[in-house]
Amino acid sequence: MKELKIFGVVAFFTLITYWGVEPFAHSQMHKHVDGNNFVYDGKADIAAASKDKKEVKTAFWADVATISKLKGDVTAGEGTYAICMGCHMDGAVNMGGVTPPILDHAGSIYDKNYLIALIKDPAMASNVDHKYTDTMAHPMGSIKTMVTEPQDIANVVAYILAKKAGEVTPKQAYVEACGRCHANRYGKYTQIGFVPATKANIKTGQDIDALKFKQKVAEEQALITDYMGKLPPDLSMIIRARGAHYLETFVENPQTQLPGTAMPRVGLTKDGFEKVLKYLEKTGEPSLAARNAIGPWVIGFFVIFTLLAYLWKKSLWRELH
Ligand code: HEC
Ligand code: HEC
Repeated sequence: MKELKIFGVVAFFTLITYWGVEPFAHSQMHKHVDGNNFVYDGKADIAAASKDKKEVKTAFWADVATISKLKGDVTAGEGTYAICMGCHMDGAVNMGGVTPPILDHAGSIYDKNYLIALIKDPAMASNVDHKYTDTMAHPMGSIKTMVTEPQDIANVVAYILAKKAGEVTPKQAYVEACGRCHANRYGKYTQIGFVPATKANIKTGQDIDALKFKQKVAEEQALITDYMGKLPPDLSMIIRARGAHYLETFVENPQTQLPGTAMPRVGLTKDGFEKVLKYLEKTGEPSLAARNAIGPWVIGFFVIFTLLAYLWKKSLWRELH
């Protein structure tokens, strides 16, 4: 009887912890964020804006919606796109803290509304305007004075969306959307590109090319750290630490999970995000392929072992009968 009482008390407190305290603590530590289904209409930004910013943001996103309805002229847009290439060309260098990403697959990974907003005002679009007294100071901020007419914006976005350069691989999506800020150790990726294969000098044993590459990475990381206030974390294992839902809502609007963070919104489409996610899943499970390949061998071993054990047992019993 006494044991039963003790068991009752233990069970009672265990259940309270399990159903009451743990879920509560979890909800406090990891606030649930619903996300916006990859729709970039600024509603969340306006709702979260301080009183003096609400009006500016409302007007900004209303303009974006208006431009979104214009019919873009792809051919005219190609001319305007040359302005983008002034900064976004292959081999671009760090400007204002970060290296402009290549836009080869921009039409496949970024959302139309987001692209319009980005050209109108990059800091507002990516929801980091709180960092600037004048959003012209954003590293892409000068675009505000280069492409100003609503029709020009509609044209260049139409051109980008029409110029879908084939299928995007998960790796390409990651490099273009996240790679200028986030290294990925297990993907052998750094903020200045993939780690090249190099060779040590036979006589000295020193790999001078590898050291030079490391120095360049360190220099780029220093610039990004100055720009962002901290070095963006390596994302090799982030999928295990945070899970897919967190990543989705975070990329869509980092401010919802880390208020005041320097990370800009990355206006991906659902498809673009899924590509990035695939890459993160691959690097987060580096041994997945090896494990899957070993599976059949292990099962085969057990099948053969069972068969042998059975035959052995049979032969033992035969002698006893
Ligand atoms: C003055 C140089 C400059 C010009 C001109 C420029 N960009 Fe950028 N762009 C940048 C820089 C720098 C970044 C990275 C900003 C950051 O990460 O904070 C960037 C980022 C981007 C991104 C990624 C945004 C994101 O949220 O991940 C896209 C897409 C983009 N630019 C498109 C364009 C298009 C389209 C044009 C032409 C209409 C253009 N850019 C013109 C410098 C420029
Ligand atoms: C312009 C630079 C920049 C780009 C581009 C960028 N990030 Fe970040 N990211 C940051 C910075 C800075 C932090 C650190 C934020 C902080 O701690 O306030 C961060 C943090 C993160 C975190 C950690 C959040 C946490 O809870 O600790 C994740 C996850 C993340 N980024 C994912 C991404 C993904 C996925 C992409 C591409 C789709 C991306 N980031 C693009 C700058 C960037």
